[in-house]
Amino acid sequence: MPEYFDMHCHLLYGVDDGPKEMEEALQMLRQEYDDGVRTVYLTPHYRKKMFECPADTIARHFEALQAQVKQALPELKLRLGCEIHVSMDVVEDIKSGRCATMSGTELVLLEFSETAEKKYILERCHAVINKGYVPIVAHAERCVAVRKDIELLQRLQNMGAYIQMSAGSIIGEDGFLLKRFCRKVMQMDLLDFVGSDAHDMKSRKVNIGKCADYIEKTMGADYRDQIMCVNPMEIVERSIGKRYE
Ligand SMILES: [Fe+2]
Repeated sequence: MPEYFDMHCHLLYGVDDGPKEMEEALQMLRQEYDDGVRTVYLTPHYRKKMFECPADTIARHFEALQAQVKQALPELKLRLGCEIHVSMDVVEDIKSGRCATMSGTELVLLEFSETAEKKYILERCHAVINKGYVPIVAHAERCVAVRKDIELLQRLQNMGAYIQMSAGSIIGEDGFLLKRFCRKVMQMDLLDFVGSDAHDMKSRKVNIGKCADYIEKTMGADYRDQIMCVNPMEIVERSIGKRYE
């Protein structure tokens, strides 16, 4: 069975609007494991005046959770990242360490407002790239500018950015229109990563297994493996390796 990655989720407890307690985080991680996921990127929100959990609290909770996971689910790897809400200060937010990159690599998960304009998305990605970081645009399908102009994804990729979509959008949890749009993105080969964006055990659940099945059914097993295993391995995990060379 392929070993999937979840590239975007809020499973770290007590730091944003994800689970409050470690126990719920562990239940969600068991679900990830049962879904076939073997590497989870924990990406708590960073957004000024809304989510500004201190980096040392995040690091403490991450270490505590990781210690439990080593006992309970030894094959499951946890990585720490951050979902960075983009503002004019985004470069400074990253450089200062207020928000983490994806496991210390140059990759950063960037969230744009749904109504962000095309010009703003391109300019902000450019600013981040100019400083040596590599953007992963979080749930890109949610941006109106992207849905209006699918070629924007191609332009972002040409700049060196990567595209992530939510498993829920792909499998139709957010409506048929979004599901159809996501399918088109995949057919045009404009998708790089999938994330659950899971927040809890009830409404925004872990759904990587369902998504993997759906992608296999519609796009084939090779494509599923490319997006859910190979890209994370080659693009992100390889960068982690480089840091220690
Ligand atoms: Fe998120």
